[in-house]
Amino acid sequence: MPELDDERLVASQGRKDDTELDLSLRPKRLREYVGQQQIKDNLHIFLQAAKRRSQPLEHVLLHGAPGLGKTTLAHVIANEMGVPIRVTSGPAIERAGDLAAILSNLEPGSILFIDEVHRLNRVVEEILYPAMEDFQLDIVLGKGPAARTVRLELPQFVLIGATTRMSLISGPLRDRFGVTYRLEFYEPDELVEILRRSARILQTKVGPEAAEIIAARARRTPRVANRLLKRVRDYAEVTADGRVTKSLAAAALDQLDIDPLGLDRVDRKILQFIIDNFQGGPVGLNTIAAAVAEEVETVEDIYEPFLMQIGFLSRTPRGRMVTSAAYKHLGYPAVDGQPNQLQL
Ligand SMILES: Nc1ncnc2c1ncn2[C@@H]1O[C@H](COP(=O)(O)OP(=O)(O)OP(=O)(O)O)[C@@H](O)[C@H]1O
Ligand SMILES: [Mg+2]
Repeated sequence: MPELDDERLVASQGRKDDTELDLSLRPKRLREYVGQQQIKDNLHIFLQAAKRRSQPLEHVLLHGAPGLGKTTLAHVIANEMGVPIRVTSGPAIERAGDLAAILSNLEPGSILFIDEVHRLNRVVEEILYPAMEDFQLDIVLGKGPAARTVRLELPQFVLIGATTRMSLISGPLRDRFGVTYRLEFYEPDELVEILRRSARILQTKVGPEAAEIIAARARRTPRVANRLLKRVRDYAEVTADGRVTKSLAAAALDQLDIDPLGLDRVDRKILQFIIDNFQGGPVGLNTIAAAVAEEVETVEDIYEPFLMQIGFLSRTPRGRMVTSAAYKHLGYPAVDGQPNQLQL
């Protein structure tokens, strides 16, 4: 098979590219949103009830690993309710005044989507409480003895918060959300459905078996499935007639160094590092991140959840440990009496 030149590969793996892809492939309505059946059933009733009462929804907290569809779901909710949505994120709201400006400019009944809501700073978070509860904002004007508090009435709004780190959300904030939905990893057949839909939108012919191969390597995550589809499509266009067949999909993914379970170079590096240097662990997160030259957050948010999901990595109070299943997958000899086995 001819190879894609490196530059093209690197360019097409960029973040901006992913963002554009996310936008173009994002389902708009609940019926197009694949999987997460329990959430959809629940949401359907929740939305109908709110519409019937002509009342705004309760505040919604969405959590789950990156790329599982939190942002998409927030937009779907806005579309289903037929209300405007204003998008911001925890780190973007630096001061109380920023939040006040956003809240007081919302159209009544609209949705405020705060992504990475676990990264709101304390001060901002505290003024968010009365806003969520009573649609009021207490702001302090002036400093020292002349300071006074002014109460601002806000338009009614629905807050949708999204987070990849439920554990970092403070108790008081968590309590102020009326509903919490935890997004799960997707089943292979759901990813196949997402891929078929995406292929239609991208006007690419993808055979059913090819879709299964891509789905199997997509880390049970829609964003990854779409990203792989795009890479495979590039490969099909450059090396063949553009049609994505089973063998072409497998060859393209092999070339991207994505193995049949969906592990990429970094996943394997993480596991191999722990095995080669720490006999399978336990080893601290910071050490792992330094070894693979990634940010601690990246390892914790992107790599670990999937490795744990497939049972290759476990988290213990003393650090991360590689499991015997991972030894086997990576072709290491079986381990007897390894500390990692005692931990499982
Ligand atoms: N249930 C779904 N059905 C179809 N496509 C989906 C679904 N969920 C996600 N996707 C696709 O995956 C992409 C990524 O989803 P989204 O941006 O909503 O993830 P996220 O959970 O917000 O991730 P992050 O934590 O990184 O912000 C979307 O653009 C969409 O194309
Ligand atoms: Mg998002």
